[in-house]
Amino acid sequence: MEPVLAPDRASEQIDPTAFKAVLGRFCSGVTVITAIHEGEPVGFACQSFASLSIDPPLVSFFPARTSSTWPRIRAAGRFCVNILADDQSELCRQLGRPGADKFSGVEWTVSGNGSPLLGGAMATIDCTLHDEVDGGDHTIVIARVSGLNEHSEAAPLLFYRAAFGRLAHQ
Ligand SMILES: Cc1cc2nc3c(=O)[nH]c(=O)nc-3n(C[C@H](O)[C@H](O)[C@H](O)COP(=O)(O)O)c2cc1C
Repeated sequence: MEPVLAPDRASEQIDPTAFKAVLGRFCSGVTVITAIHEGEPVGFACQSFASLSIDPPLVSFFPARTSSTWPRIRAAGRFCVNILADDQSELCRQLGRPGADKFSGVEWTVSGNGSPLLGGAMATIDCTLHDEVDGGDHTIVIARVSGLNEHSEAAPLLFYRAAFGRLAHQ
């Protein structure tokens, strides 16, 4: 297979389509990050989530600069990372597109820090905002973990090459 990109190209010559095609080969799970803002649930689907540090306990994720939801979660200052199970692709789609009715029909309860805990999530991580760093057209959020919950032994929802998937042996 021909290489999509020469390794010595300057970053300004990187074609965004090639960038997405190549980086899309990095398979991940999917989360929905939720908070309460002015009494209403807010949230967005987020693939760019990672464990960052055990001591202190930190996680990280990358909201787009264009996100209308992240500023509201930032204002809340505390939020919940919901790790989705493999039967939650529709929920992920609903919370992965802009719109005022993202939580329409969504079952949720309240997590330990008062954020929406989505029904069916396999695990949840309560966090507070620790730091925010420039990440180009995204922002790098560093969050301090304040609570951890395992909810089920369900298999994870996967995201790979712009499509949902599940573990082959499940
Ligand atoms: C599977 C999936 C993964 C996503 N991952 C991210 C992400 O890592 N960062 C991000 O900013 N948006 C991500 N999105 C898109 C946001 O969820 C979407 O842009 C957002 O919900 C738009 O609404 P907003 O303007 O209310 O934030 C993802 C969407 C889907 C469906």
